[in-house]
Amino acid sequence: MLVTDIDTRWLTDDDRDNLTVRQHDVVAEEPPAGGFDLIHARLVLIHLPQRHAVLDRLISSLKPGGRLVLEEFDLRHPLATQAGHRAEFDAVQDAFLRVMTTREVDIDWARSLPENFAARDLDDVHVHTHTILWRGGSPEIQLYRVNVEQVAADLATEGISAQALDDFYALLGNPAFTAWSHPLVSISAARPRLCR
Ligand SMILES: C[S@@+](CC[C@H](N)C(=O)[O-])C[C@H]1O[C@@H](n2cnc3c(N)ncnc32)[C@H](O)[C@@H]1O
Repeated sequence: MLVTDIDTRWLTDDDRDNLTVRQHDVVAEEPPAGGFDLIHARLVLIHLPQRHAVLDRLISSLKPGGRLVLEEFDLRHPLATQAGHRAEFDAVQDAFLRVMTTREVDIDWARSLPENFAARDLDDVHVHTHTILWRGGSPEIQLYRVNVEQVAADLATEGISAQALDDFYALLGNPAFTAWSHPLVSISAARPRLCR
């Protein structure tokens, strides 16, 4: 199995003899040669302005009959479940998404995947979405805090006060609060075996 990323600092192949790690820029570089039976990319194309060209490139890297699996967050899905906490949570989360948009994240990308796959005439398309209800105080819900902390300076520009941020963090620590995880849209399809 070949694992690639533009930044391989967090990847090692030390303890697996069936794993090769390679530094690779999926935008700027040709894919490794040979053709693949399966390509899986999670939460990568959503960040890349060249996502449509990268999608074409991944498909052309498959062997005939080979399968592409993409997984991306549906960033349009409402997260906070309780009406009483929604405005407080959404103020920060909506500002976070505005910041992501300025950084070229396409927040509609996950929802557009079925039509993007259909436009490329792939076979045997399957789509499903997975989400989990996270409770305040759990380790998982801290993903929302980690994401927001990384862009805190930009959130101030978006009108989010230090108090609003503190309230948001308090909500994430409150066991009475629940929020959906970003739904993960998984789509898979096969490259046609015959030319059409
Ligand atoms: C949100 S992380 C997802 C990491 C991992 N795929 C996962 O699902 O946990 C986005 C990843 O895309 C990688 N990335 C960004 N631009 C890239 C590029 N041009 N080519 C290859 N990888 C890239 C980043 O280094 C980062 O590891």
